[in-house]
Amino acid sequence: METNPPKRRDNKKSLRVKVISLGNAEVGKTSFKTDFNYISPHDLTDYSTQSCIIKRYCEKRFVPKYLATIGIDYGVTKVQVRDREIKVNIFDMAGHPFFYEVRNEFYKDSQGVLLVYDVGLRESFDALDSWLGEMKQEMGSQANMDSIVFVVCANKVDLTKRRVVDEGEGRLWAESRGFHYFETSAQSGEGINEMFQAFFSSITDMCENGGKRPVSEVSVGFTKEQADTIRRIRNSKDSWDMLGVKPGATREEVNKAYRKLAVLLHPDKCVAPGSEDAFKAVVNARTSLLKNIK
Ligand code: GTP
Ligand code: MG
Repeated sequence: METNPPKRRDNKKSLRVKVISLGNAEVGKTSFKTDFNYISPHDLTDYSTQSCIIKRYCEKRFVPKYLATIGIDYGVTKVQVRDREIKVNIFDMAGHPFFYEVRNEFYKDSQGVLLVYDVGLRESFDALDSWLGEMKQEMGSQANMDSIVFVVCANKVDLTKRRVVDEGEGRLWAESRGFHYFETSAQSGEGINEMFQAFFSSITDMCENGGKRPVSEVSVGFTKEQADTIRRIRNSKDSWDMLGVKPGATREEVNKAYRKLAVLLHPDKCVAPGSEDAFKAVVNARTSLLKNIK
């Protein structure tokens, strides 16, 4: 006698993930939430006074007034990625240094991190390294960065006139670390949906890949050393600094430093965005220094 075949178990169970948002105060982290049934403790009280990337996505609205997040804002939402339901716990961190003691408890067990900076404030871009540093320090031995999806949001791109960090520089920082990069505006909505879609879909891919970030995302065709060197060259204050030699260095020292950089950045060998300009700048710096050294 034939028995009924056992019912196929649904192996696409819903996933529960934790994501956090990091970045200096006032860069627009809270402002992202707009469209996904975001339930926050503030919804029960006076959520209308909360400011804006997360808000933009969860509520499809933008609040121009700045209201600093006090410590942490927590919310839960559900999103659909392919045939899977994802329950997302969002911890929106306060960027002000004052809240470090509150923030530091919430880094552990995150699968996704939004790293936000304001394209009009260079210090908020430069601070991304210290945000990663704070996170690594607080996660301690748990700090396995390969098991976390990072998305860098270059926010406030609507304010074009005050922009000081260009796309190449931001993308280079992000992609050389295997992070996603998106240009966003919580005000106009530009890039927000695409960014969240890529974020949640990458987290789902990672969970389905046994908790490791898929390799394809990490491999960008250039090294972190190349990316960091291009960034250092862009930010150097003079030709000595650009070549990484002390003022008054000899011809030999200048040539040695030049050769090292040329090997690293030659356009035939380096595909990192900005490498061509960096290489030209290094050639010019060497020429001008050699002119003045006997
Ligand atoms: P903390 O909670 O203090 O860490 O700040 P935050 O990063 O959460 O900043 P918030 O989202 O509160 O936004 C700060 C200010 O920037 C608010 O006045 C927002 O209206 C404004 N803002 C946020 N995103 C944008 C944007 O894309 N464009 C413009 N023009 N303003 C923005
Ligand atoms: Mg905030």
